[in-house]
Amino acid sequence: MKSNPKTFHVKSFGCQMNVYDGERMAELMAAQGLTATDDANAADLVVLNTCHIRERATEKVYSDIGRLRKHARQQGHDPMIAVAGCVAQAEGDEIVRRANVDVVVGPQAYHNLPELVAKAAKGEAALDTDMPLASKFGKLPGRRKVGPSAFLTVQEGCDKFCTYCVVPYTRGAEISRPFAAIVDEAKALVGAGAREITLLGQNVNAWNDAEDHGLHGLIRTLDRIEGLHRIRYTTSHPNDMTQGLIDAHGDVESLMPFLHLPVQAGNDRVLKAMNRAHSRDSYLRLIDRIRAVRPDIALSGDFIVGFPGETEAEFADTLSLVDALGYAQAFSFKYSPRPGTPAADMADQVEAEVMDDRLQRLQAALNRDQHAFNLASVGRTCDVLIERRGKLPGQMLGKSPWLQSVHLIGDHAIGDVVTVQLSAAGPNSLTGTQTLRAAA
Ligand code: SAH
Ligand code: SF4
Ligand code: F3S
Repeated sequence: MKSNPKTFHVKSFGCQMNVYDGERMAELMAAQGLTATDDANAADLVVLNTCHIRERATEKVYSDIGRLRKHARQQGHDPMIAVAGCVAQAEGDEIVRRANVDVVVGPQAYHNLPELVAKAAKGEAALDTDMPLASKFGKLPGRRKVGPSAFLTVQEGCDKFCTYCVVPYTRGAEISRPFAAIVDEAKALVGAGAREITLLGQNVNAWNDAEDHGLHGLIRTLDRIEGLHRIRYTTSHPNDMTQGLIDAHGDVESLMPFLHLPVQAGNDRVLKAMNRAHSRDSYLRLIDRIRAVRPDIALSGDFIVGFPGETEAEFADTLSLVDALGYAQAFSFKYSPRPGTPAADMADQVEAEVMDDRLQRLQAALNRDQHAFNLASVGRTCDVLIERRGKLPGQMLGKSPWLQSVHLIGDHAIGDVVTVQLSAAGPNSLTGTQTLRAAA
């Protein structure tokens, strides 16, 4: 039996929504009177907020649990360990069997974390991986202090069932949060210090409501919030990219010129086997339409190499798509078979060495394009949102509208928006020279 914890530490491993969930769990525990600590080894309660998207993510959780327990034992300390997030959802029972943990809670049930912790303190089993119809959001405490750039989940779940992906199983069916609840949370975030809000969803551009506002309607409403300078959204699916949303990129000033639009592969046979429901050509045409209204938009994407059956010629189609589009940044992964997904049972799984080689070639092309995009920004004047202090004296770090990291020297407060001229570019960041100080 363990006593009720007084301090806690939340560690998030996954996507931006996972990070957002981690923040909300921290707010929830703080509202219960627990104190947050940065030191996972000293906390009475450690929440491991896990991700299930690729193999190593799951293994890392088990090794983390082992390390935490060992370290704690050496200190004569016996922390309560809670496994939250998508591994908890997918492998809850397995975790209980395989690891020494006190609480298991899924991504749709974490509003119950305080009750589960209380149960565990009494020595009772504490596992909740339900996906209740009533959403958790109404049961969470309000937003308090946040940084200048905040996340806000507006849509959750996925009905797309790409054949490689666990998300539809770990997050459940697509749901959109109500318009008014989102606007209220956005206002609370701005009141708590946010200058930029990134709207989150597994398919964020599928967000909608009974009045058919669409994501673009929501963005247009948020655009009118005093003190909110920047709006971003992620992740989008090509098939949910409506004309209304494309138009918003043409005329909503606070909507930043950045679009993360995963394509995964450049070959139609592979896309079909992935159940992506878009083709190479439809994706290329979509990007043309977006660039027509916002020529400077920074394009970002996700790629998978070595999907089962992918041939060298099919992989070459991914490289040629990258060459044709010029991504400003991107994430690329080796295909990882996930238990329970259709692709895991497909014949012709690609060998590890072949995947390594393809990933290297793809990343070389993506890095080249990212550097080229950064170099092409030199000379531009743009706003930079100051997010934190840099390592050098007087140095500040912020983001350009195109989500590039910008270093500059100056006496700014975190959350200031400064107008700078971009003067030099490296592969991962730019340097800016201040030209004007704008209002925070
Ligand atoms: N909902 C988003 C993101 C899903 S997960 C979307 O549809 O774009 C983020 C990325 O992880 C995916 O875009 C994909 O590139 C990658 N991914 C998902 N499952 C994977 C798997 N089994 N193996 C390798 N990469 C995977
Ligand atoms: Fe996964 Fe596909 Fe859904 Fe994205 S759209 S979350 S890749 S199933
Ligand atoms: Fe990972 Fe779950 Fe996000 S599997 S990528 S934490 S939705």
